[in-house]
Amino acid sequence: MKKALITGINGQDGAYLAKHLIDQGYKVIGADRRRVDSLSWRLKRLGVDDEVEHIYLDLLEFSNIFSVIRKHQPTEIYNLGAQSFVAASFDQPILTADIDAIGPLRILEAIRVIDPSIKFYQASTSEMFGLVTSSPQSEETAFYPRSPYGVAKLYAHWIVKNYRESYGIYACSGILFNHESPFRGLEFVTKKITNHVAKMHLGNKTPLVLGNLDAKRDWGFAADYIEGMHLMLQQEQADDYVLATGTSKSIREFVEMSFNFINKEVRWEGEGVNEKGFDAKTNEILVEVSKEFFRPAEVHELKGDYSKAQKELGWQPKTDLKKLVGLMMEYDIERQKEEVKLV
Ligand code: NAP
Ligand code: GDD
Repeated sequence: MKKALITGINGQDGAYLAKHLIDQGYKVIGADRRRVDSLSWRLKRLGVDDEVEHIYLDLLEFSNIFSVIRKHQPTEIYNLGAQSFVAASFDQPILTADIDAIGPLRILEAIRVIDPSIKFYQASTSEMFGLVTSSPQSEETAFYPRSPYGVAKLYAHWIVKNYRESYGIYACSGILFNHESPFRGLEFVTKKITNHVAKMHLGNKTPLVLGNLDAKRDWGFAADYIEGMHLMLQQEQADDYVLATGTSKSIREFVEMSFNFINKEVRWEGEGVNEKGFDAKTNEILVEVSKEFFRPAEVHELKGDYSKAQKELGWQPKTDLKKLVGLMMEYDIERQKEEVKLV
């Protein structure tokens, strides 16, 4: 029986991947740094929490990683655990580097010593392209990270390649562009938007406050992307792959699509931090801009070229942005209704 160890099991991707692998007949060992029941809400919502064997694993602690791998003998390891919020990496750059750069190295060292036949997946990111040098970005595009998070992930990306070339370990990096879902963390912009618009739909009058509305992202659906992660570990040879949709939209457009879902049209007025979004019919203020949510250095535009994954893995995205916004809005409206009932 195939046995997968997933770090970051309680995060968005960890939960979707656990469900996918369990459906494929895998035994899943779910690793996260804390074992608090409420943290596995995503696994519970997907109906697989009881099938996951939960264990403690902190990416900061080598002896912990080493003994987990030695004890459980996984056939595949998916390293999804990370300090994954770019904005926080400017406040916690050293912690971010320790978890996101040295964390994967700790796992690779354990694999090298315990059993080099264990396959390894590393969650690389489009954030490594940063100040992009060409568009769309593929596996061949030069990296130019713009955040401590991006720099840390780039170290991890290269050390994966190095362990593959030096020790023949089957180690892959998936360079994934932004992927969202109803289970996205509230700190990320898409979820912050859909969650707030859902509240406004149910009567809340507080405007949504955002930072840079002009940044553009290539947003896909997380449940599509985790299938690509799994495929990367089933090939003849380990390699790195971009997963993306090939389309790029601004935060402003994502806001408009979310309000459109509740039949509101946004009219924009003003510039920079003085810009506001109004309800085109009622003139009610829907959106404001605050300096608080701008970053010291921004990634202005990301757009991925997933043709290598399509050709070699047979992978392609199945969910367009309109459908994704609909999934997130529907979920958030229902969840807000549940919360109102609880009060
Ligand atoms: P997420 O929801 O933030 O999940 C990350 C998980 O990592 C959380 O469960 C977190 O646990 C855990 N973690 C944090 N520090 C840890 C540590 N020291 N030891 C062990 N676990 C730790 O992230 P995601 O969106 O699922 O993304 C999964 C991975 O893909 C991340 O590595 C992310 O950087 C990368 N990625 C994501 C995207 C995207 O658009 N979603 C795109 C490219 C790459 P706590 O709850 O305790 O914090
Ligand atoms: N979070 C947030 N909150 N972002 C905002 C806001 C806001 O209020 N207003 C504007 N933004 C802009 C950010 O400046 C950024 O340009 C964009 O929205 C997306 O921000 P996030 O949703 O936080 O995602 P990210 O692109 O920085 O990082 C995500 O994607 C990466 C892949 O490219 C994360 O999932 C990373 O872990 C992942 O590697």
